[in-house]
Amino acid sequence: MCGIVGYVGPRRVVPIVLEGLKHLEYRGYDSAGIVFLEEGILHKYRSEGKLVNLEEIMDEVETKSRIGLGHTRWATHGAPSERNAHPHSDCTGELVVVHNGIIENFQKLRKELQAKGHIFTSETDTEVLAHLIEEYLEDDLVAAIRRALQEVEGAYALGVMWSGQPDILVAVRNQSPLVLGVKEGGGSFMASDIPALLPSTNQVIFLEDNDLAVLSHDAITIISLEDGKPRLRQTEEILWNAGMAQKAGYRHFMLKEIFEQPQAILNTFRGRLDPESGQVDLSEIGLAEEEIRQFSRISLVACGTSWHAALVAKYWLEKWVGIPVEVDIASEFRYRRLLLGPDVLVIPISQSGETADTLAGLRLARQSGAKVIAICNVVGSTITREAHGTIYTHAGPEIGVASTKAFTSQLTAFFLLTLYLAQVRKSLDDATLQGLGRGLLALPVIIEQELPRLHAELEILAEEFVQCRDFLYLGRGLNFPIALEGALKLKEISYIHAEGYAAGELKHGPIALIDKDMPVLVLVPPDEVYSKVVSNVEEVKARRGRLLLVGSGSDEHLAALADDLITLPDVHPEMHPLLYCIPLQLLAYHIAHLRGCDVDQPRNLAKSVTVE
Ligand code: G6P
Repeated sequence: MCGIVGYVGPRRVVPIVLEGLKHLEYRGYDSAGIVFLEEGILHKYRSEGKLVNLEEIMDEVETKSRIGLGHTRWATHGAPSERNAHPHSDCTGELVVVHNGIIENFQKLRKELQAKGHIFTSETDTEVLAHLIEEYLEDDLVAAIRRALQEVEGAYALGVMWSGQPDILVAVRNQSPLVLGVKEGGGSFMASDIPALLPSTNQVIFLEDNDLAVLSHDAITIISLEDGKPRLRQTEEILWNAGMAQKAGYRHFMLKEIFEQPQAILNTFRGRLDPESGQVDLSEIGLAEEEIRQFSRISLVACGTSWHAALVAKYWLEKWVGIPVEVDIASEFRYRRLLLGPDVLVIPISQSGETADTLAGLRLARQSGAKVIAICNVVGSTITREAHGTIYTHAGPEIGVASTKAFTSQLTAFFLLTLYLAQVRKSLDDATLQGLGRGLLALPVIIEQELPRLHAELEILAEEFVQCRDFLYLGRGLNFPIALEGALKLKEISYIHAEGYAAGELKHGPIALIDKDMPVLVLVPPDEVYSKVVSNVEEVKARRGRLLLVGSGSDEHLAALADDLITLPDVHPEMHPLLYCIPLQLLAYHIAHLRGCDVDQPRNLAKSVTVE
C-alpha cells in the first residue's frame, strides 16, 4: 500500500521525509520518490526498489529546502519502475502529486486529457490527477484541486504541491487514510499512517472523507472538499509506541488484516462491478469475448490458502457459467500429465505472485498452449509478468504469514470473474446477474458491522479451546473449502492439529475420532444443503462430540444442537464463503494468541514460498 509523507516547517524537509517513509516501509512498497521546492523550482527524485536506493541518491543532493513530499509506491496500475514511482508531475513540472488509492475512471480521464494535449509519462492512475489539476489551475491551487476532484471517481489520499504557491502543501482525503501532524514551535506534517509522524510529533489530526487541508509553516486549515466551508477537527495525542502504530493499535498484523477485509473486498470490486446493473468489466485482463466463448474448460492452480479460494471458485464457475472446472494443488499439477490446449483457461492464484510451484504450473500451462490469466495481489510479481493477463486483488500488502484479507479478496476476484464470464457467455439472465452483483456489493458493510462483535465473542469462546489437541471442521458445498481454510488457519498459527472435511465424508473416516473431547466446528448456513449438514451435526451429537456451530442468527434450530454457537447475519447464499471464513480466522487468532504463539510469524512457515 502506498505511503505518503509531507512536511512544511522550520526544519530541513529531506531528512524528515526519508525518516517518515522508513516508518511506512512495513506497508510494503516497490519504489520511492521525493520532491522539494528550492528557489521556486520543484526538484524530484525517484528510484525503483528499496528506500535505501533513494537515500543513496539523496546523499548526493545538497538542499536546505523546508517544504516537500515523499512517497513509497505499492503498484496498482503500471509495473514497479522509476517512471511509475511518485511524485507525478503535470506538463509544466510546476505541480506534483503523491497519491494512495485507486482512481476508478482514470482511463477515461487520461484519454480526455491526452486529447487536450497533455503528455503522460507514466502508466499510473495517479498521473491523471496532476494533469487534471493543471487543467483548472490559474492562481489558486485549492480551487483547482476542488474543481478537478469533482471529475474523479475512486478512493484517494493526496498530497499536492505547486511552485506557484511555494509556502503550502495541500492534503486531501477520500476513502483512503491520511493523518496530519502538528509540532509546537512550527511545522506541519501529513502522512498515510501515524508511524511516519511519531519521530517528529505525537500531536495528530485525523482527516475524514472529503476533507481538504492546507498546510503551512505554522498553521493547518481544513475545509470541505465539496462546499469549501471550514471543518473543525480535533488535535489528538498519540500514546502508541512505533511498533503499535504500525499495526494501527492492533496487537498483531493478522488481526489488523482481518479487520481490513471490508476495505480489501471493496477495493477489489471497486470500478469493476456496476452497482446498478450488476455488470462486471474485466476487460483489463485482455481476453477477447470470442476467446471467452470458446473455452471448454477452466483449470485452477494454487497452493495453501489460494488453493482454497480456487476450490470455492469451482462451485461458482460451474454453477453460474456452466463450464467444467478442475482445481489442482500446484505441486501436484506440475508432475501429472496435463491435458491442456488453447481451449483451456488456466488460472494460477497467488497472493505473492512468487510461489515456486504455482509459477512452475503457469509455465507448463503456457508451454501447452493454454491461455493463462492470473489472480494475484502483487503488481509486477513474476506470476503476473508471465501470465497473459492478471486480475489483481487489491488487498494491499499482507504481512501476517497466515493469509486472511488476501483470501477474501481472491474470493471477490473469482466472483467477479464468474459474473464476467457468465455475462459474456450469456449463461445468466440480467436479473440473476444483478442479484448476484448486489450480494457482493452489500457485503463490505455487513462484515464491517459484524467484526467488532465477532472479535469480542470469539475472544471469550477461544478460552474453551486453548488446551485442545485436535479440531475437526466440517462444511458442504461452497463451505467445504471454508472448513479446509478454517482448519488450515488453526494449525498454522496455534499448532493444534486440525482437519477440514466435507461433512458428507464424516462417516467414511473421521467419525471414528469423535468423542466428548473432540471439538467439531460445523458450518451450517441457510443454503441448499442445509438439511444435509444438519444430519451430519446430528451424527456428531449422537457420539457426544463437542459441537461448535456457525450459522444464521435467524436459525432457531441451531441453539438446541450446539454446545457453542456463532451466529452470522443472512447474506446472499453465494456470499457465505466470504462471511463464514471470518469467525474461523478470529477463532484461530484468539486460540493462538492465548497459547502464546507468534501469530504473525508462525514457526516453520514463510509468507512467500519461492522454493519447491
Ligand atoms: C504460504 C503462505 C500461505 C499461502 C501459500 C500460497 O504457504 O504461508 O499463506 O496461502 O504460501 O502463497 P501465494 O502467495 O501463492 O498465495
